[in-house]
Amino acid sequence: MQIAIIGTGNVGSAIARGLKGRGHQVTLGVRDVARPDLLALAGEVCARLLDPAQAAQTAEIVVLALPWDKAEVAVKALGDLSGKIVIDCMNPLAMIDGALSLAMGHTTSGAEQVQSWLPGARVVKTLNQVGAEIMQDNVSLPHRPAQFMAGDDEAAKAAVAILLRDLGFEPFDAGALKRARLLEPLAMVWINQALLRGKGRNWALAAVSPAT
Ligand SMILES: NC(=O)c1ccc[n+]([C@@H]2O[C@H](COP(=O)([O-])OP(=O)(O)OC[C@H]3O[C@@H](n4cnc5c(N)ncnc54)[C@H](OP(=O)(O)O)[C@@H]3O)[C@@H](O)[C@H]2O)c1
Repeated sequence: MQIAIIGTGNVGSAIARGLKGRGHQVTLGVRDVARPDLLALAGEVCARLLDPAQAAQTAEIVVLALPWDKAEVAVKALGDLSGKIVIDCMNPLAMIDGALSLAMGHTTSGAEQVQSWLPGARVVKTLNQVGAEIMQDNVSLPHRPAQFMAGDDEAAKAAVAILLRDLGFEPFDAGALKRARLLEPLAMVWINQALLRGKGRNWALAAVSPAT
């Protein structure tokens, strides 16, 4: 698949590395295509560099891996993404009363906000629930890590499930896009354990069932 990754920080670079060698054509959407570290990343993962809007326009799947406070302006600048699958990895984080928190949740979600910025796009919320390291490489884990998806377009979720398997995850369909209201708090569960409770970053939730 033709995949554009918009944002090449922790998450964007991890996904690019995780997808290397999986048969996809990856374009990194970056603001400075001449930056040496981005040229090195592109060489490492066999991707090309384009500005974010060009990258998004040439892709079938657009991965959004941007800081939430920059997202609205940056996403709207990508142009009309009607018909394209858009993976929203972002968590709408904010400092509230001195604590890292979700800026929304009961009546909307970050993913629903993204959908409102990109009418016509097929938005799928996923890859927001674990740290970037697990997205890049999880082969050493004893169980495949679970990764939930929420979206209104069934065909889009089926395509995203293929990508999630390529990244080593067991995908689970959480339902409609508004179920992102469940998945964004799930990220906070991971963040709480990883960063505040001392568990560290190299772990993920997995689903285990009785043998059949
Ligand atoms: N870090 C994690 O483990 C993790 C896990 C799950 C979900 N998330 C979520 O994923 C998102 C990205 O997190 P991150 O840790 O990868 O952030 P990050 O390391 O700070 O990377 C952010 C990226 O966004 C780019 N960017 C910023 N403003 C932009 C703009 N206006 N146009 C285009 N690109 C822009 C930055 O480019 P420049 O280099 O040019 O500044 C950088 O490549 C966040 O919403 C976060 O909540 C993070």
